[in-house]
Amino acid sequence: MRSPRLSPDARRQAPGAIRRMFEAVAPRYDRMNRILSVGLDQGWRRAALRELDCAPGSRILDLCCGTGDLALLLPPGLHPVGCDLTPAMLEIADAKAARRGMAFPGVAGDALRLPFANDVFDAAVVGFGIRNLPDLERGLAEIHRVLSPGAKLVILEFSRPESRVVRIGHGAWLRLAVPGIARLAAAGGEAYGYLRDSILGFPDAGALARTLGAAGFRGVAYRHLALGTVAIHSGRRGRRSAPRGRAPEAGDRDPATRAREGTGAARFSESRSAASSTA
Ligand SMILES: C[S@@+](CC[C@H](N)C(=O)[O-])C[C@H]1O[C@@H](n2cnc3c(N)ncnc32)[C@H](O)[C@@H]1O
Repeated sequence: MRSPRLSPDARRQAPGAIRRMFEAVAPRYDRMNRILSVGLDQGWRRAALRELDCAPGSRILDLCCGTGDLALLLPPGLHPVGCDLTPAMLEIADAKAARRGMAFPGVAGDALRLPFANDVFDAAVVGFGIRNLPDLERGLAEIHRVLSPGAKLVILEFSRPESRVVRIGHGAWLRLAVPGIARLAAAGGEAYGYLRDSILGFPDAGALARTLGAAGFRGVAYRHLALGTVAIHSGRRGRRSAPRGRAPEAGDRDPATRAREGTGAARFSESRSAASSTA
């Protein structure tokens, strides 16, 4: 199945197209991550999770959770809840968790109107997902809304290397190699063209840190990995309200969210008591 080519402009208009694109790549998504990162991506996820620094029993939102790699790497005793726009990605997370004898606590939902009440999470992590949001400020306001005061947000995302030489090499890798490798692996070359465009169009680490500060996160810090091609940002939800979203109403949910909500919402409450079986 060919996935649609999405320019950043198309991205702004078409959450359905984003979902279809991730649906098309879902079966090969994990394998392509390992290939394109030359086996480093799980190490980056572990590094991001170390930043979370959560007490046992914490409720952790894994936003844009995809196939669940971050939530599934969390140590026992934490209570993860995955949320993703694309049910096909959540189904892969379900299957991976089932192979380990666990249930994956995933909810279909849009990061721009999260299907959670205010102040319910003790931490949030977003792995390679924030770059996909058509409205970064609104997505951050939603994360802020669902975090409790003082709770930590950690973002793992591709970044722009500060060294000019590395930047040129990285740009060439993204433009020339990535879509070609994806086509050879029959993994949807068009989707990986989108990957390239979305990475090159995303703010650099300093700009993302400033946007986090403007969204009400405090103590914002970041560090680069992999020669600056990846960055981990963190910050804590301020105690005072910042530009906040609003708690969702039933009419807000899109069809994919509604379709999964029966199980997802139940899993959310289960996950508060059964976390050790999910991670
Ligand atoms: C590149 S994958 C990252 C998956 C996973 N976090 C990881 O570490 O591999 C990006 C994910 O973001 C999801 N996504 C894109 N836009 C979204 C939105 N508006 N709300 C929620 N999830 C979204 C996609 O469905 C996809 O699963």
